[in-house]
Amino acid sequence: MKKILILLLSVIFIISFSLVGVVGCKEEAAEEEVVAEEEEVAEEEEVAEEEEVVAAGSVGIVLPTKDEPRWIQDETRFSDALTAAGYDFEVLFSEGSSAKEKENVEALITKGVQVIIICPQDSTAAAAAAEEARDAGVKIISYDRLITDTDAVDYYVTFDSVSVGAAQAQYLVDKATGTGNPLYLYAGAATDNNAFIFFQGGWNVLQPLIADGTFVIKNSSEAVALQDTQLDATADHDAIGTIIGQITTNWDFDDAKSLAEANLTVASAADKGDVFILAPNDGTSRAIADAFAADSDVTSYVISGQDAEIPSVQYIIDGKQSMTVLKDVRTLVADAIAAAIAYLTGGAPEETTTYNNGVIDVPCKPSVVVTVDKDNVQEALIDSGYYEASEFTGLD
Ligand code: BGC
Repeated sequence: MKKILILLLSVIFIISFSLVGVVGCKEEAAEEEVVAEEEEVAEEEEVAEEEEVVAAGSVGIVLPTKDEPRWIQDETRFSDALTAAGYDFEVLFSEGSSAKEKENVEALITKGVQVIIICPQDSTAAAAAAEEARDAGVKIISYDRLITDTDAVDYYVTFDSVSVGAAQAQYLVDKATGTGNPLYLYAGAATDNNAFIFFQGGWNVLQPLIADGTFVIKNSSEAVALQDTQLDATADHDAIGTIIGQITTNWDFDDAKSLAEANLTVASAADKGDVFILAPNDGTSRAIADAFAADSDVTSYVISGQDAEIPSVQYIIDGKQSMTVLKDVRTLVADAIAAAIAYLTGGAPEETTTYNNGVIDVPCKPSVVVTVDKDNVQEALIDSGYYEASEFTGLD
């Protein structure tokens, strides 16, 4: 009897213990469910909050023209990066016109964007649009080119443009031997503040070698007049402007080609031979290179560029353009987006230096540039993942 009682008690004990276990498990499960539900709600709230930032903080981007591969590349890189980050954005092109650019800015203000990233067509003319945006409470990020003569610029994302010009000039210097080397100078558009900075960077490297006779300028009397002077884009703006007046390409392929042809027409055979050409960017470099290549008195030429545009990379592989300056657009786009997000979330973007725009010192974080020629094109542009090898022919 005693045994039966013990057995019965044990059974009761085991059953009640397992029931407690079941209840415990059920309680744990219920608790887990509650936690999971809470987490889900929190996640949903977080997403909703992010969406609110996205919706309330959409970004407008205004780029100068679709006529140059450079700006199409910026559009693609913006679109890739902003789509991946889940931001609402719109890219508008200004068709090379300041009036269109102002319309674009106004359209974005009307749509309620909170940040406008703008690469001005004309550095000074863009001030009016920037001021309208500022008055509407929109943050303005000047992209690649600085908007000048206004305090309505919050931030400037750019490359180190002095070093772009310096890299172009240094390439010519490194390839020159002896004295009396014919030098042809070309510049960007006088409406673009960068054109002055590139020229400063290039000039200050070339000038001592012009002064000592290594190079002889063949196409600008204004540059010859200043050949004993170092120049500063801000302090010597007018002097540089006078030189640019003689050698501007207006960032236009056709203008560049016509100017190069006109220069070659008036130059004697002795002014040609093995020539050195400071060309401000890739588009104009290809046009100028074509003009020099077509002149039978030109034996060889060394010519600079910038932007690492696909057609120019092909020219470099083919030996028709000597170098380009890679300005990694992915970095510029990432910096612009980081600055925009900083503003959308109530912060301020990183500043490492400032650029004076004639009215204020605009906070900025310039990015470094890389010289690319035939020797490092594979490593700098293909191995780095910037371009696909399949976009070119004749790569080793
Ligand atoms: C940019 C260059 C570009 C040029 C012409 C400059 O302001 O920095 O990358 O080639 O404009 O569009």
